[in-house]
Amino acid sequence: MRHFTSVKDIGDLRAALQEAFTVKADRFAYQHLGKNKTLIMIFFNSSLRTRLSTQKAAMNLGMNVIVLDINQGAWKLETEHGVIMDGDKTEHLLEAIPVIGCYCDVIGVRSFARFENKTDDYEEKIISQFIKYSGRPVFSMEAATRHPLQSFADLITIEEYKKVERPKVVLTWAPHPKALPQAVANSFAEWINETDYDFVITHPEGYELDPRFVGNARVEYDQRKAFEGADFIYAKNWSVYNDPHYGEVLNKDRSWTVDAEKMALTNNAYFMHCLPVRRNMIVTDEVIESAQSIVIPEAANREISAQVVLKKILESL
Ligand code: CP
Repeated sequence: MRHFTSVKDIGDLRAALQEAFTVKADRFAYQHLGKNKTLIMIFFNSSLRTRLSTQKAAMNLGMNVIVLDINQGAWKLETEHGVIMDGDKTEHLLEAIPVIGCYCDVIGVRSFARFENKTDDYEEKIISQFIKYSGRPVFSMEAATRHPLQSFADLITIEEYKKVERPKVVLTWAPHPKALPQAVANSFAEWINETDYDFVITHPEGYELDPRFVGNARVEYDQRKAFEGADFIYAKNWSVYNDPHYGEVLNKDRSWTVDAEKMALTNNAYFMHCLPVRRNMIVTDEVIESAQSIVIPEAANREISAQVVLKKILESL
């Protein structure tokens, strides 16, 4: 694997899942792969899980790790081509990227949708430039439209917890006070669509995702109906995708909050969320603290998904 930005890059999904379970059983068995290799992780946006789990995964593989938080101590970067740089941006991405590439063997990038220009976001303008100009393998630590390390960890978790071969998995929109990207929801849909699970997406009208990600999923506007018989409830907020309201929050309707009454409609479903989560907006305290909440093992599997991806990249160097 050279670059990792979507499910398409992981190859055979069944084999990747099997590899994840092998890595999880002995995560220090591949230390030789990363010896004298350096990972630089670039963060344009904040993180807790991605930063810690990816660094841990790299250390499991024997790699050296450098973390650069662009908003803390780095020069402010210009990302637009052709601008006269007479403002507060000191360095252009077109110099910064190849310079970063000089100091490492692999680059991880976190760069969220900016909601300034839908085309720029959906063409993945930032991570695409890292792939084009760094000369190094690049992997996504959440880009504008996808969060593949999260989705891979989600799938590992579902495979670990499922009680039937073909579980009913429901992705539900839930309210949030601020505009969030569609990346986690898009990516979750993209990965689940690669399985044979019974997959339903539920959200209020106006929150339709890009049809390229929805794929063959059933869309159900009645959240309660969607929850009936579900084995897994995956909650996430996202802002509007469709024009002319791209990136906007249309409502903060707390009747969409995942609560115990709705969970009672399910087949004793497990509750999942990528975290960080706004309690009593997305999900009630009662549900996230219940025995059916698997948000912590889900987060723990971020180390495994990152390690499989880094291992595949290192094997290709
Ligand atoms: N789920 C996730 O990516 O968490 P962080 O934003 O804390 O990295």
